[in-house]
Amino acid sequence: MSIALIILAAGKGTRMESDLPKVLHRIAHAPMLWHAMRAGQSLEPARSIVVAGHEAEQVAASAQAFDPEARVVIQSEQLGTAHAVLQAGPELEGFDGDAIVLYGDTPFISQDTLEDMARARAEHDVVVLGFEAADPGRYGRLVTEGDALIRIVEYKDATDEERAISLCNSGVVAADAATLQSLLAEVKNDNAAGEYYLPDIVEIARARGLSAGVVHCAEAETLGVNSRAELAGAEASFQQAIRARLMADGVTLQAPETCWFAWDTVIGRDAEIEPNVIFGPGVTIESGARIRAFSHLEGCHVSRGAIVGPFARLRPGAELAEHTHVGNFVEIKNAYLGEGAKANHLTYLGDADIGEGSNIGAGTITCNYDGVFKHRTTIGRNAFIGSDTMLVAPVTIGDGAMTGSGSVITDDVAPGALALGRAKQVEKAGFATRLFDMLKAKKAKQNKG
Ligand code: UD1
Ligand code: CA
Repeated sequence: MSIALIILAAGKGTRMESDLPKVLHRIAHAPMLWHAMRAGQSLEPARSIVVAGHEAEQVAASAQAFDPEARVVIQSEQLGTAHAVLQAGPELEGFDGDAIVLYGDTPFISQDTLEDMARARAEHDVVVLGFEAADPGRYGRLVTEGDALIRIVEYKDATDEERAISLCNSGVVAADAATLQSLLAEVKNDNAAGEYYLPDIVEIARARGLSAGVVHCAEAETLGVNSRAELAGAEASFQQAIRARLMADGVTLQAPETCWFAWDTVIGRDAEIEPNVIFGPGVTIESGARIRAFSHLEGCHVSRGAIVGPFARLRPGAELAEHTHVGNFVEIKNAYLGEGAKANHLTYLGDADIGEGSNIGAGTITCNYDGVFKHRTTIGRNAFIGSDTMLVAPVTIGDGAMTGSGSVITDDVAPGALALGRAKQVEKAGFATRLFDMLKAKKAKQNKG
């Protein structure tokens, strides 16, 4: 069965109090819209259609950043959920299969749940995702008879008896795409809100002799975000879920609640993460690597057996080969460290290639930026960079070469050579003693006067 996803993302999200459209607010570094789109990916959709309205250009760009093939339709006036889904019509032309309606501000629907819905379509023409709400509040209520879904009633339009129902509408719906569009065409807005309600398709379908049914999911999956407080709550529960998954996959988290992960963080089995480590997007940690406390990582790859931190910062393009060591107060950006290379203290390596087995002394800096352009530093294998070396890029240090501590290296260094780029030491015998005596005598005179 071919599937089209229709993701509603036109609303403004007034309660966010934001210039950014609601669906672009991030959870674990990904816009909520991406979470919804990612859940849908498990169904291998033939088409993904995003319905944008408020700040449509930004929403479209974000949708296409996640999936370049995503199609975006514009709902210029938000007249209700049925009206929103109807806008997908032109993009469904020539499509033969099921449509599933998802929501850009409901990021946690699981892949299993969506697969259950796709399967339930074998039994019902319209499948609605419902949940038992602890506090049903203002959700739409599902009126059922045995297995059959009779209708959905919005809170505003419900009787007291209907409001007593705890089975609620998540909003997620699956139906044959062409059938769905024809049902939507019949939806009217003669209700308390004056909106075109997507849930009304249930009654319209039944009037045509079609059947409707319910798939159940956990309430946590249907969690929607309407305010900053709810966004923070969603972040917390998402982090909780990532931590649980990582530990289930064999990653040691010493203090799970102190570590923060991104939506796409990948960590191998038997890796060890100490407390207070922050992961930005695009991080891969291989099996058996160890990330020590208070490190910050984004856009980087750490190989097997590497040790990072405490207090290390790996920025985008940091690529650490096996058994590398990156210690405290070391920042690495767009740089490759070959197998067994070490930079243990107080160092900046940017736009650099470091050969295997090389040792980078404390305080080393790649001076990669001339104010306009970035330049590369290349260090060969088994080189020894003395403490406090300034490597003024572009510059190349050969295999097995050495730089003296405190050197400013502006020219390439040949393999096996020692380069010294610092003032020669001079020594003046007895000078310090004479200077101190003079200064102390001066102070004594001042105190008397
Ligand atoms: C909707 C359901 C309700 C359900 C609840 C679950 C309707 C009429 N009601 O109510 O039964 O319990 O979701 O959260 O569907 N949107 C558009 N264009 C529009 C209107 C809405 O894109 O014209 C988008 C919104 O941005 C939002 C989503 O659809 O992401 C839901 O719309 P909203 O107005 O929040 O519906 P609810 O009142 O929450
Ligand atoms: Ca809502």
